[in-house]
Amino acid sequence: MNAPVVEFSHWLSERAQHVEQVLARVLPQEDLIPTRLHQAMRYSVLGGGKRVRAALVFAAAQACTEASSAQQQTQSALAQDYAAAAVELVHAYSLVHDDLPCMDDDVLRRGRPTVHVQYDEATALLAGDALQPLAFDLLAQMPIAPELIVQATRDLARAAGSLGMAGGQAIDLDSVGKTLTQPALQQMHVLKTGALLAASVSLGGLAGGANAVQRQALGAYSDAIGLAFQVIDDVLDVTADSAKLGKTTGKDAIANKPTYVTLMGLSQARDFAGHLHQQALAALRPFGASASLLAGLADFIVLRDH
Ligand code: IPE
Ligand code: IPE
Ligand code: MG
Ligand code: MG
Ligand code: MG
Repeated sequence: MNAPVVEFSHWLSERAQHVEQVLARVLPQEDLIPTRLHQAMRYSVLGGGKRVRAALVFAAAQACTEASSAQQQTQSALAQDYAAAAVELVHAYSLVHDDLPCMDDDVLRRGRPTVHVQYDEATALLAGDALQPLAFDLLAQMPIAPELIVQATRDLARAAGSLGMAGGQAIDLDSVGKTLTQPALQQMHVLKTGALLAASVSLGGLAGGANAVQRQALGAYSDAIGLAFQVIDDVLDVTADSAKLGKTTGKDAIANKPTYVTLMGLSQARDFAGHLHQQALAALRPFGASASLLAGLADFIVLRDH
């Protein structure tokens, strides 16, 4: 392993620990009534996950941040923490609901029983319901200009809604047993997974004070990594080890879901992700060296084994 890779993996694990601490602080404590709901919320969010979305917030902010005063740096760091926690909360909610029997009916997530197995379906539903508004509560507390809070709120709301994640999930359910064309499959993946990854990058840009040129470059980067993320998720469902992945593998084939692997085969799906990877790196050129963490995340998203 060469030095930049080691440095990147240290950075990623430090940021994952950091957002874990922020999340542990902002989630209601387990002994607060209604205790079962609060326990399920903490179980859903804490103690696992790669924290890629949080890392994208921090990396995008870092790519945009100019030399600033100590006070500005503290405010930006706090805004990044809230934004990173917010995207992880929406993501965790989407996983809790995605695993429900009425959706993917999964029993294993992040190496542990899924929330409806550990608690019950109604509690899992409510935990998801409660995680989502907590995310917006955090965005409202970001110490940045009010118009930037409004922008961040709209970005996350649209990414999670019927023209984003929830819409993609609806198309996913409607596509079971169907063969989709590549544009249709791409639309499903961009919505169900790409939208929230793109919002993570965009929120990082807002917290880091991105200018118009930077915002455009971040948009091109996140379009590419957002789709690549789900293409690789499809690949890993076929190739990865359940223990390493922390979720049951082979489920897409069992559930008869259209994926990039069913559309084009494993090798071409990997090549397609490789092509998106290059597209993402090319989009970062305007940033120069300040985008090294975003580049590292593009590498991680495409080359990961879990
Ligand atoms: C899994 O996301 C669900 C998808 C959107 C593909 P991740 O692979 O980021 O899951 P965690 O957060 O690391 O568990
Ligand atoms: C999930 O896609 C996307 C969301 C949760 C929004 P998948 O259903 O493929 O995710 P995994 O494989 O269960 O993590
Ligand atoms: Mg699903
Ligand atoms: Mg699933
Ligand atoms: Mg999957």
